[in-house]
Amino acid sequence: MKATKKHKILVTSALPYANGPIHIGHLVEYIQVDIFVRFLRLIEEDVLFVCADDTHGAPIEIKASELGIRPEQLIEKVYNEHVQDFRDFLISFDNYHTTHSPENKHYSDLIFTRLNDKGLIYTKDVEVTYCEHCKRTLPDRYVKGKCPKCNAPDQYGDVCENCNAAYKTTDLIDPYCVVCKNKPIRKISTHYFFKLSKFSRKLESWLKKNKNLQPEIKNFVFNWINNGLEDWNISRDGPYFGFKIPGEENKYYYVWLDAPIGYIASTDNYCKKHGLKTEDYWNNKGSRIYHFIGKDIIYFHFLFWPAMLLGSGFELPYHIPVHGFLTVNGEKMSKSRGTFFTAREFLQKYNPEYLRYYYAGLLGSKMSDIDLSFNDFRKKVNNELAANLGNFCYRVLNFLNRYFDGEVKGIDSNKKLIGEIKKLAKNIGKNYNALNFNEAVKDILHISSLGNKYFQDNEPWKLVNGDREKTHRILGLCVNIVKNLSILIQPILPNFSSNLQKQLDLLNLKWSDINFELKNHKIGKEEILIMKMEEKEAQKPQFPLSLKVARILDVKDHPN
Ligand code: 2FM
Ligand code: ZN
Repeated sequence: MKATKKHKILVTSALPYANGPIHIGHLVEYIQVDIFVRFLRLIEEDVLFVCADDTHGAPIEIKASELGIRPEQLIEKVYNEHVQDFRDFLISFDNYHTTHSPENKHYSDLIFTRLNDKGLIYTKDVEVTYCEHCKRTLPDRYVKGKCPKCNAPDQYGDVCENCNAAYKTTDLIDPYCVVCKNKPIRKISTHYFFKLSKFSRKLESWLKKNKNLQPEIKNFVFNWINNGLEDWNISRDGPYFGFKIPGEENKYYYVWLDAPIGYIASTDNYCKKHGLKTEDYWNNKGSRIYHFIGKDIIYFHFLFWPAMLLGSGFELPYHIPVHGFLTVNGEKMSKSRGTFFTAREFLQKYNPEYLRYYYAGLLGSKMSDIDLSFNDFRKKVNNELAANLGNFCYRVLNFLNRYFDGEVKGIDSNKKLIGEIKKLAKNIGKNYNALNFNEAVKDILHISSLGNKYFQDNEPWKLVNGDREKTHRILGLCVNIVKNLSILIQPILPNFSSNLQKQLDLLNLKWSDINFELKNHKIGKEEILIMKMEEKEAQKPQFPLSLKVARILDVKDHPN
């Protein structure tokens, strides 16, 4: 796998909301993107990986007011937690910014003004739900009432959880304000609309031309276009936490306007710090922009965002890989069922590389949901990671140190085995590039099984007493396989890889170091790389706290 180097590559992951912790569902995407980016770095592509906290919107403003703090304080606290969680899961952003930044304000105003100057924005009066007691317009989630379709009580202002109908807040029957429970009134408010409807043909032709986009997703985006695109309300009334619309006193950009602009702003923030040019990514036909997203935000990224970019003169995405959702033990994650885990909770129990490995084994280029089954999780970690990969590397280095003082001299010229591994390595590169990490994992394990078998079949522990030189060459070939594995697995298990390379006394190997040329080299001390998980440890973690009140009747020492 060779780098094209001709292109500047920009990779983004979706910006997480700054109103809550990172959880294991989010991590599917961040781990997926991180593996891809690490692979691109390994093949020495010119790649930049940026993200940011998505800090604006009513939920953040309301949550801060509930906590009695300013939104700025809330988003700062959450920012620090997110950064820590990502660092501990080894997510290697080049830049992690915030949408509440001067760069984002600058690009939001720039894009808004350009669209406005081109006549792509207009104002229109709309009916909103207003609480006179709270003195505020109520966003979707802050007004409840009976569903206008099925009459189910206590439904939110946007969709009914009972019949799935979508509607406006003003359609609710007997609405009430979620905060003060009073009945809201209807009010007329002037809003800004972006003429998305004008972009149908242009979006269609971009979708048709772009050969990278997943075909199944293109299809339903075409359906949306064919059914007619509606113009998009891009403003919200105050109080709102966000950027004020130029010339307005109490109107703000809707969070979904400035959130994706955060991709540009984070790039810009990085470029300023590193003497690079933002235009080389965002106004350059030769650049390649990848937005990784989940299936819930397809509409924004396949329609609104490209239309905004088209209308304001920025480069369109090269690829928008869409992944599915995470289920835990076959069910939707849920706090009450005890299947919702934050990144932090997970880290308290497991090595983050276990999860990286597990997700990698399930992730392909299709938009399928993936399941975290704790049984399967333990099996994979123990049988694949520990017993196959970790064990092969350890026994080879251990043997070489014990019998040959860690010296690699020559290598056994087993053409068949070498040829097979080279072929598998090539395939692994292709599969990383195509986002088929599940296939890459299979082939990596295959190489390590071949290595284990070769070691086992040659019985070096016996042979060393008869033909010491041949044994040494066999170990030489084995060490070369270990070295290659340390590179092949690096995108998925960066710590495992760097520890292994430390033991090999070879640092920061690149994809181009995958070969069988390691000779006349002395390795360092070997150490166990991956521990097996105990059965009880692998049961799904019991984090939900359950408090009971009891009277102490008797006290004895616990037998254990
Ligand atoms: O759905 C979400 O979690 C959003 N915060 C994602 C934003 S991605 C980008 F467009 F900003
Ligand atoms: Zn109210």
